[in-house]
Amino acid sequence: MEEQRQKMLADISHDLKTPITTIQGYAKALADGMIAEEEQKKYLNKIYNKSIELTDLINTFYEYSKLEHPDFSFCFESIEIYEFLREYLAERYEEISDKGFELELDIPEDHAFCNVDKFQLKRAFDNIVNNSIKHNPKGTRLFINVTMDEQQSLNKFVRIVIADNGVGIPQELTASIFDPFVVGDDSRTSKQGSGLGLSISRKIIEGHGGNIALETGEEKGYKTAFKIFIPLLGQ
Ligand SMILES: Nc1ncnc2c1ncn2[C@@H]1O[C@H](COP(=O)(O)OP(=O)(O)OP(=O)(O)O)[C@@H](O)[C@H]1O
Ligand SMILES: [Mg+2]
Repeated sequence: MEEQRQKMLADISHDLKTPITTIQGYAKALADGMIAEEEQKKYLNKIYNKSIELTDLINTFYEYSKLEHPDFSFCFESIEIYEFLREYLAERYEEISDKGFELELDIPEDHAFCNVDKFQLKRAFDNIVNNSIKHNPKGTRLFINVTMDEQQSLNKFVRIVIADNGVGIPQELTASIFDPFVVGDDSRTSKQGSGLGLSISRKIIEGHGGNIALETGEEKGYKTAFKIFIPLLGQ
């Protein structure tokens, strides 16, 4: 446990240090008059963008630690899950297509009720959908398939598959992909992901009495597919 905490602090420090070092370098160069006047604006913009990155990172750490806190509790309410998902995806549709991605939906027309914390569940979906956009090239297709799952023992679940036909997750990452700070090469190098997105999603979904798994294999043209189960109300 202590070892885990130490590793987490080391990871957080490293993630914060990288953008701060860049900001310091640019700021010092500007202060020392090393940057030609016509270039100065460009450097100020770089500083600004790095500081935004830093804020995003700090927010992610904060969200993660909030979920870990013993006093944290979800604000559950009974909702119609299919409509909730349709609304959520409608809200995100424009941004996803503006960024050059395709979105394909298959959500039942009837009704199913679940006990959810809407804010947190949106965050769980956001992290997964954002990954499809962040880690894949334009033109990648996102599929969202929702069905009623009555197979699992006596309990009934809503089954939500969020998938894409992008680059896929390297096999060596699949076993640990939901652990904090696990990132692929792209996040480690250019994209500055903290590796907390999927661990936050898992915590939220498990907090709903559900589960999430990464589907391996390439059935139906999916490269990456997350299968999520959320219990139906009244079970
Ligand atoms: N849809 C996807 N396609 C390709 N790779 C993915 C996809 N989803 C996740 N990954 C890989 O899994 C890693 C872990 O994802 P996770 O969301 O936990 O962290 P991150 O996106 O790197 O950082 P953060 O979400 O904290 O900004 C990513 O770095 C990426 O390599
Ligand atoms: Mg992510």
